Order: sequence, then C-alpha cells, then structure tokens
Amino acid sequence: MEKLYPLSLAVNGREVSEMVSARLLLVDFLRDVLGLTGTHVGCDTTQCGACTVHCDGQAVKSCTMLALQAQGQAVTTIEGLGPRGDHPLQQAFREEHGLQCGYCTPGMIMAAAALLDTNPSPDEAAVRHALEGNLCRCTGYQPIIAAVISASRKTGQ
Ligand code: FES
Ligand code: FES
Repeated sequence: MEKLYPLSLAVNGREVSEMVSARLLLVDFLRDVLGLTGTHVGCDTTQCGACTVHCDGQAVKSCTMLALQAQGQAVTTIEGLGPRGDHPLQQAFREEHGLQCGYCTPGMIMAAAALLDTNPSPDEAAVRHALEGNLCRCTGYQPIIAAVISASRKTGQ
C-alpha cells in the first residue's frame, strides 16, 4: 500500500489537513480531494497556465507543484478570489469579452490578479509579460489584455 504523508495548509482561508501521496500534484489535490474544480488542467506539462493558483500570494502553475510542496502555505484558487463572480477582474473579463469557452479563464484571472497585487497600474507590455505563461485558444488575447487593463483602472491608484 502506498505510503501517505500529512499535509496541512490553508485553502481559500480554510485550514485543511489531509493524508496525501508524495506523488500527488497540487492541482489534483485541489480538484480531486477538495473539489475545487475551478482550477483547470489544460496540459499537465507546465505549458498552458490553466491550473494557475496563488501560493502565499505568488502565481504558480499547480500542475508543476507537488501538493506536499504547499505544506503550510496559503493557497488561493479562483473560488477564493471571486466566490460570487464579482471580483473586478471577473467583471472586466465579462465586460471586455475576455473569454469565449472559458477554459483558460480561471488561470488567466489568477495570473492577472497576482500582477495587479504587485503592479496596480500595469501598461499593456506588463500585462502581456505577466500572462505570457497562459495560453488561450479562443480570444486572440487582445480582449484579455483589455480586461486586465480595465480592471486595473477601476482598482488601481
Ligand atoms: Fe498546468 Fe497546463 S495544466 S500549465
Ligand atoms: Fe477558450 Fe481562452 S477562452 S481557451
């Protein structure tokens, strides 16, 4: 039988303790153990950014981390960022048509939120740089960039 290890962390402000496999990825822990399926899996190979979450405030691709590497950290998923869909970035994505199929959207929003946390008024180049690890097959990116800049104008200084 596979050995399990204790994992304790905070997810969306809630303390969580589970026994997990050393091989379990953070994205699979969030989706399959906690049921937080807003974090998507697009590639499983660190290419697409659909799995982006925040660990201690940093945007990370959760398919790239083992769950145990998040030991003691504060993890935020899209469910924690905007539980009612009313986060300024979520509103801006709707207003600027920054999504079509929506598969990339949670990861895009989490990456954009990490940018706005450190740079509340980014220019277009800064937004493109922050989102360069996130792929979208639908929008052509311009509406996504417009949405992030629109959100920054509403929330920036
Ligand atoms: Fe993690 Fe694509 S699923 S980067
Ligand atoms: Fe479909 Fe981005 S909206 S992948």
